[in-house]
Amino acid sequence: MTLLRAEGIAKEFGGVVALHDAGVVVDRGKIAALIGPNGAGKTTLFNCISGHLRPDAGCVWLGDREMTGAPAFRMAQHGLARTFQNLELFPDLTVLENVLVGRHLTMSAGPVASMLRLPRERHQERRAREQALAALDRVGAGDLADRAVDQLPYGKQRLVEIARALALEPSVLLLDEPAAGLTAGEADNLGELLQGITADQVGILLVEHDMRTVMALADEITVLDAGRVIAIGRPEEIQANPAVIAAYLGVEATEASEHGADLP
Ligand SMILES: Nc1ncnc2c1ncn2[C@@H]1O[C@H](COP(=O)(O)OP(=O)(O)OP(=O)(O)O)[C@@H](O)[C@H]1O
Ligand SMILES: [Mg+2]
Repeated sequence: MTLLRAEGIAKEFGGVVALHDAGVVVDRGKIAALIGPNGAGKTTLFNCISGHLRPDAGCVWLGDREMTGAPAFRMAQHGLARTFQNLELFPDLTVLENVLVGRHLTMSAGPVASMLRLPRERHQERRAREQALAALDRVGAGDLADRAVDQLPYGKQRLVEIARALALEPSVLLLDEPAAGLTAGEADNLGELLQGITADQVGILLVEHDMRTVMALADEITVLDAGRVIAIGRPEEIQANPAVIAAYLGVEATEASEHGADLP
């Protein structure tokens, strides 16, 4: 079952065309990977899907609901959570507070109810805290809840961002380079974590440069190059695809396939 579909997405920044015609599909319980050289448009596509940017053209659906151009908080309310390539944590807050910030996105109690601490609001607060702690446990950072987030090593900060996304209990999780800056051991743990998340029927869209992680985890890979989708397939198909090899190596496709080059 398809949880997320984006099609024909175009986005221009003051004359720079970041996306011409990009799209991606994420199915329930699967890991879809989005790869491509630096500047291919991966993060821009994420932003157009998650509501952090409004696409110039194209459509985004969550399930069978069209969500094109919906703001990020609305996407979150409909089950989409994400992390950021450049971490977007609040350095002055604790780990737990950072995770709670994400959870507050979808809470229905308004500011007045919050100030008065009405019963419903107190109930929501308690539940949010439980979910935040559970999410931190899930990523193996439960013992860090009360630490200042900016005191943590980078790899742990990445895990906090993933916990913040998980605390939203998403049906679709978008991860922009979650393994960047992780040690090999941490990257392996991340792989296990992501597989556990898909076992809960969540669909994951993974942008990742670490090909070892991508090839090991992805059910399907979409390759972007210069704002266009140039290939879609299973990991072994993508690894052998001359157009993909050429995009990574910057050489002619035929030349690349003759050399049987491996992806970086
Ligand atoms: N806010 C912006 N303003 C202007 N240009 C932008 C903006 N965001 C992205 N771009 C440009 O759009 C293109 C695609 O960038 P994007 O960050 O989406 O690539 P990417 O595939 O995520 O690259 P990387 O692998 O380096 O993260 C690049 O040419 C980039 O310079
Ligand atoms: Mg990027």
